Amino acid sequence: MDAREMKIKAAEAALAHVEYGMRLGIGTGSTAEEFVRLLAEKVASGFKVEGVPTSERTARLCVELGVPLKSLDELPQLDLTIDGADEVDPALRLIKGGGGALLREKIVAAASTRMIVIADESKLVDTLGAFALPIEVNPFGLTSTRMAIEKAASRLGLTGALTLRQSGDGEFTTDGGHHIIDASFGRIPDAEALSRELNSIPGVVEHGLFINMAALAIIAGPAGARTLQANR
Ligand code: A5P
Repeated sequence: MDAREMKIKAAEAALAHVEYGMRLGIGTGSTAEEFVRLLAEKVASGFKVEGVPTSERTARLCVELGVPLKSLDELPQLDLTIDGADEVDPALRLIKGGGGALLREKIVAAASTRMIVIADESKLVDTLGAFALPIEVNPFGLTSTRMAIEKAASRLGLTGALTLRQSGDGEFTTDGGHHIIDASFGRIPDAEALSRELNSIPGVVEHGLFINMAALAIIAGPAGARTLQANR
């Protein structure tokens, strides 16, 4: 089974949690897109849902495939969000934002009663941090913000390159008009402490640590999909 087939397996298993009439947060990335394709098939056969997309990219795919969309202001409380992740640890802490949509992803997940993460097994890690942590920053005062991130990280014993994400001929810009610093910490032993430190920096808009957000993770491997539950 190749990576795409595993993503489809995870997406299929997540679809079983979607009930008729649900208000659904719809994630971003290649795994979430497999979910959108399967959801669109169900919608085409008469299944009713209303989706709130976590990015312009996801919105475009939903429109193309006929998944009905609303804005988060129209549907401020959602039943369920299905989204991918860059890393998932055993406590279902996540790193997200590889696709640059972490801010809307976090806002949508926080507005949902439940979040289910879907991923292939390459995303499962013992400790978060091998994937560079995306940190969404305001373009104003970028150098000061970068220095503040460096200081905060070093207080926790974390070092590593802070790389301003690029795209085409310039800085990558998120749907919200911000930039992303990818922080290569290598290993993040205390994700909660790092989250608190980053949240206290004014130029940091949001970061890709999702803690206490996912209720379930559906992880697909060659033998099929298994479900991990957050024990909290
Ligand atoms: C988008 O910003 C991310 O949070 C994605 O959910 C994450 O990068 C997973 O993407 P893939 O499913 O493409 O690996």
